[in-house]
Amino acid sequence: MSAKSFRETTLDTHRLHPETLMLGYGYDPNLSEGSVKPPVFLTSTFTSPSADAAREFFDIATGRAAGHNGVDGGLIYARYNHPNAQIVEERLALFEGADVGAVFSSGMAAIATAMLAHCRPGDVILHTEPVYGGTTALLKKVLPEYGIRAVPVTDADDPAAMRAAIARAEAVGRLAMIFLETPSNPLIRLADIGLAAELATECARRGGHRPIVAVDNTLLGPIFQNALGCGADLSIYSLTKYVGGHSDLIAGGVLGHRAAMTPVRALRPLLGGNLDPHSCWMLSRSLETVTLRMTRAAENARIIAERLVAHPAVGEVHFPALAAAGSVQRRLYEAQCSGAGALMSFDVGSREAAFRFLDRLGVVKLAVSLGGTESLACHPATTVLSGLPAAEREAIGVGEGLIRLSVGIEHVDDLLADIERALA
Ligand SMILES: Cc1ncc(COP(=O)(O)O)c(C=O)c1O
Repeated sequence: MSAKSFRETTLDTHRLHPETLMLGYGYDPNLSEGSVKPPVFLTSTFTSPSADAAREFFDIATGRAAGHNGVDGGLIYARYNHPNAQIVEERLALFEGADVGAVFSSGMAAIATAMLAHCRPGDVILHTEPVYGGTTALLKKVLPEYGIRAVPVTDADDPAAMRAAIARAEAVGRLAMIFLETPSNPLIRLADIGLAAELATECARRGGHRPIVAVDNTLLGPIFQNALGCGADLSIYSLTKYVGGHSDLIAGGVLGHRAAMTPVRALRPLLGGNLDPHSCWMLSRSLETVTLRMTRAAENARIIAERLVAHPAVGEVHFPALAAAGSVQRRLYEAQCSGAGALMSFDVGSREAAFRFLDRLGVVKLAVSLGGTESLACHPATTVLSGLPAAEREAIGVGEGLIRLSVGIEHVDDLLADIERALA
């Protein structure tokens, strides 16, 4: 096959890189009047070539056809799938070596569908703490009403703490899922994905159920952390963040190997969370620059973190690349990540100092969310984590003086000037 083929991942024996494949993989211009870029397929339904083909497509989509896992059939109806979703799913899967991808109308739709697909009443989800506020509410308020309980673990880089947490979880019910958000937000602490995978297999060896290891890979994936490569069964994304990358869409994704993805793909059309064609088209455009954007933002973040560490008005700076030599976090960072990403947090001492800093910023915008081209800062204690009681917030290390900074792709000298002026 020639490199012009829309599913070719090698050029003779040369393996093509994701950066190259993001520009064309999964789309055949010959099927769309030679249009170099995919059109937006604004249609709710698709014609079948014959009645028998329609029957087969339905058998595959509903999981009745053996061996297909609901993935490989023809197009039927856009709540099941559509060409713009397929393009994004196939391109995203390339980054992590996934068999199958699924896009969703938000990161929360992706997380909720993955959890519901793999858990039943009486089951337990062991999860890192803290996790994103929406995930916390789902785990602690919504899922328990359906008989699915949550057990937290704070030191998910420590084998003894993880083993103890698994024992606590198994005492409550069948451990169905180990959910890691790594790094965590806003303290940017890493959980050990390989350790969780090993312990999940150990559960099965002891005669129990093997829990699914699901990783929220939003903060470092797909460029700096390959969750599936580290042993996860599912890699979950808020594509709203770095992958979308321009703060102009809401989307989510789940990637994984076929067996773990089958129930997720089967549940998506029933909960109705598939992503619309226009947002998928925007994501396919964003994927063309995701490596450039994430690399530039990470380089900016490294320079800013180093400057903050040396600043007299700043206390602790939380950023993976700053983990102390010889520490567990350092070892994990070096083994699990190929870069530190562009999200950090740092302490300026008090709520008053934090508010003063945020109000003085000019280039950096005062907003929640992260992963866009522009730099954003917020005060976690009174915004994204304001739902947690103060004592719980303090217990996990989020104080009143903590600032969260999502570094963008601006010129780093402008960001440094802005931050230093606001700290002065
Ligand atoms: C780590 C993480 N996971 C999931 C989500 C939820 O994503 P979405 O807002 O796309 O639903 C967020 C949102 O901020 C997040 O930061």
